[in-house]
Amino acid sequence: ILFIFLLLISFSICPQRALSNRFDPSPLSTNFLFGTASSAYQYEGAYLSDGKGLSDWDVVTHKTPDKIKDGTNGDIAVDQYHRYLEDIDLMEAMKVNSYRFSISWARVLPKGRFGEVNSGGISYYNRLIDALLLKGIEPFVTLSHFDLPQELGDRYEGWLSPESQEDFVYLADLCFKSFGDRVKYWATFNEPDYLITYGYRKGIAPPFRCSKPFGNCSEGDSEKEPYLAVHNIILSHAAAAYIYRTKYQAEQGGKIGIVLHFDWYEPISNSMADKLATERARSFTNNWLLDPIIFGEYPPVMQKILGDILPKFSNNNKEKLKSGLDFIGINHYASYYIKDCIYSKCEPGPGITRTEGLFQQSAEKDGVPIGKPTSIDWQYVYPQGMEKIVTYVKTRYNNTPMFITENGYGELDNPNNTEEQYLNDFDRKNYMAGHLLSLLEAIRKGADVRGYFAWSLLDNFEWLQGYTVRFGLHHVDYATLKRTPRLSANWYKEFIAKHKTEV
Ligand code: NOJ
Repeated sequence: ILFIFLLLISFSICPQRALSNRFDPSPLSTNFLFGTASSAYQYEGAYLSDGKGLSDWDVVTHKTPDKIKDGTNGDIAVDQYHRYLEDIDLMEAMKVNSYRFSISWARVLPKGRFGEVNSGGISYYNRLIDALLLKGIEPFVTLSHFDLPQELGDRYEGWLSPESQEDFVYLADLCFKSFGDRVKYWATFNEPDYLITYGYRKGIAPPFRCSKPFGNCSEGDSEKEPYLAVHNIILSHAAAAYIYRTKYQAEQGGKIGIVLHFDWYEPISNSMADKLATERARSFTNNWLLDPIIFGEYPPVMQKILGDILPKFSNNNKEKLKSGLDFIGINHYASYYIKDCIYSKCEPGPGITRTEGLFQQSAEKDGVPIGKPTSIDWQYVYPQGMEKIVTYVKTRYNNTPMFITENGYGELDNPNNTEEQYLNDFDRKNYMAGHLLSLLEAIRKGADVRGYFAWSLLDNFEWLQGYTVRFGLHHVDYATLKRTPRLSANWYKEFIAKHKTEV
């Protein structure tokens, strides 16, 4: 009798909710974060405003503009520094409940720990965070998204000195102290594996270190450097997580994690050689960082192949690594077949490029690409890749909570596009729809995913590609900086509305 009474009460208080939970349960938790993602250098502009120091990207884009496809820079970018209120209105219109952005290190600490805190920078992030919270949008903050104060870049060649760890902790401590009363999600780094590939292997992004056989360098800097840089980054993460846990977490109650670039890799054939190559591909990218942070050791495959080239963790380091993480941030865009190129000889060719980690990857199998090719060379639309990568991470890392911290569709800019062509981004909409459905499937099967961030709120500065690639749910006219919602923004709004009522 009591049960029937409670059931009747629940139907009369909230009939829709009771029905939807009973017949069509949403796999998403009530506090699931729906957001869009961005980063400081790609968005803020204001590169010298209010006491900001120079970052390595400011210097590179000014000194050697030829390194950027269209010779541009992030001096103005999309000017979010001055237009954040307008951007928050765009977020509000989509009904997102979270925004992922990064701190410009050179804005808050122009000379790292060797100079003063820039109050102008602190005040900008305070304004941004407060304005987000006022609209019910959770800030999700990345401490380091590729850009570094030039001062530190000069001192250490980026991340090559163990002293860089001290600097990172200094930044982290300042941010936890200044913003942690309101910021509940912290990511230490964004895609360090990519930073290493471009900056320490191929030598085409700051700090331009090149190592053979990965880069096309006349003389390699050192085979060991990429491993050393990642070692310092892992230990920087650990040290920041340690101070967060010991000094701030109990009082502030937030979570700390790291964001990695997770392509989905699949063996190109059933041969043992290609399966082993796939394991190497995974080990030399994401597991390279996650294994030490979660298990305290580099992946066994890396240890076996690299021997003494791979730095070792001291007992003291291992103690710090125990601070681990609260979540894994997954940036997922594309999927690749993996073809063994150590044991069976093969040359780079169409669809096959040399990449990190002693393997070669291929987007094609017997001439058939993994998913649909797009206008940008590295992206293949294979929505199932989302479910597969999430399930892989779930299994390997014991269902540690995950966030999809980036997922998005890039299009080569075509300046001849009409307004209608710019705004009717069916391909982006379909990409998001496919990947989100695939994600829901993974969640239904038990993956602990707690949020999804579309890359990106706006078109923006795409690093080496300058402004030639557009990822925005909103189109940006770079001459006027006017933002206009695309079809995908409206679609995302509807998707969120539908899934919010289900939970
Ligand atoms: C991942 C990076 O974090 C972001 O900065 C970049 O713009 C997107 N991928 C798209 O390439």
